[in-house]
Amino acid sequence: MPKHFFLETFGCQMNVVDSEQIVDLLRGMDYAPADRPEDADLILLNTCAIRDKAERKVYGHLGRYKPLKAVRPGLILGVGGCVAQQQGEKLLKDIPYLDLVFGTHNIHRLPDLLRDVEIRHRRGHALEFHDRETRLRLFPQRSGGEAVTRFVTVTQGCDNFCSYCVVPLVRGREISRPSGEILDEIRQLAASGVREVTLIGQNVNSYGVGVPGELSFARLLAEVEGIDDIVRIRFTTSHPKDLSDELIDCFGSLKKLCNHIHLPVQSGSDRILRLMNRGYTREQYLDRVRRLRRVRPEIRLSSDIIVGFPGESEEDFADTLSLTEEVNYVDIYSFIYSPRSGTAAVKLEDSLTAGERQARFDRLLKIQEDISRQWRERDAGAILEVLVEGESRQGQGQLFGRTTWNRIVNFAGPRDLIGSLVPVHITQVYRNSHLGCLVTDQAPSHG
Ligand code: 5AD
Ligand code: SF4
Repeated sequence: MPKHFFLETFGCQMNVVDSEQIVDLLRGMDYAPADRPEDADLILLNTCAIRDKAERKVYGHLGRYKPLKAVRPGLILGVGGCVAQQQGEKLLKDIPYLDLVFGTHNIHRLPDLLRDVEIRHRRGHALEFHDRETRLRLFPQRSGGEAVTRFVTVTQGCDNFCSYCVVPLVRGREISRPSGEILDEIRQLAASGVREVTLIGQNVNSYGVGVPGELSFARLLAEVEGIDDIVRIRFTTSHPKDLSDELIDCFGSLKKLCNHIHLPVQSGSDRILRLMNRGYTREQYLDRVRRLRRVRPEIRLSSDIIVGFPGESEEDFADTLSLTEEVNYVDIYSFIYSPRSGTAAVKLEDSLTAGERQARFDRLLKIQEDISRQWRERDAGAILEVLVEGESRQGQGQLFGRTTWNRIVNFAGPRDLIGSLVPVHITQVYRNSHLGCLVTDQAPSHG
């Protein structure tokens, strides 16, 4: 009987990629995926510590799994990722039914930890931070499997120390993976059927900075453009302070780069941006946006915004609202400020109440909802190019794919279109996806 695992992933794209590595390791140990936690011999949580809410979720989920241990003796429960890294052994102390804890630099240790629990019934942890050389050596090489689109890690960690952010503390300093390795991986992915790659890192724009002889991020993109069979390129996340002219010009010269960039602004107020240690002003940010639109008029932008940073005045918040309208984002991900221990912002004077924060959050959301709806409606009736990713969850004969703007489109079509770029007539626009009809005799009008 094969053993079964159930893995839950929280947080950002870095955790998604780490979870893929965890799955590879578990398969190598003869574990097969379970559909429900009730059927698993091993339950793992890959956790996120970015906000208090994300962290509390971990405790909530562990509490729910506790009773399963009584009905399934031998069930192993483990926690990895950013909460594991930050809380460390405290998790094992606080949660007596937890078996193992592994940090962000220790995924490769999971098989050892598991064997210790399985054979010796010994609870364990692996939480050490590694130096640059060790981390570069441990970078996993990923395979494509059946996928049409894949994340490819180009940097790990972050050196920016934005004053609210726990990432540099739980993921460590930024390392850039050697470009030769990245390009080899993408060539292999392309050979196994992958058509779109998203280059990921906490701040991909500073790729290669400070590494003698390494390519700049813009040069790396140009190399990826040259790989046959890759038809679309995306990247995330971009830090505005490192969005160079050279990189912006890629949107003019590289045809495979999609018409979308996620460019988190965090606040529209210069005073708050300074307190956040973001390294740019409102005007510098807007200048980057104007340049992007000059070289690629069809580009659509999305952003992250923090509401209620310590000391944010009504005037500061009004600056965020006006910037949101001025940029005209296709989407924003807005968050209420959450104090994180170990960060600089927890020491700042903070007199805002939870109610004030929530009210500002609701105002921002309302403004953005209107803007996002207008963007969606622009797509209605258009014929857009869609990269077909697979069969849709909507049901029989339905496929799904994405537009260049990263919108999901569901439409009816044969399975053999998976992996192709096809023109789709958009017939209905919903909040989270579009519905369309495959066009068989016409070229796309946009996209
Ligand atoms: N509180 C609220 N939001 C945060 N983010 C990062 N740290 C915090 C925090 N302490 C948001 C930022 C970042 C996104 C991934 O999460 O907007 O871009
Ligand atoms: Fe956090 Fe700032 Fe680094 Fe992004 S750039 S991960 S917000 S410290």
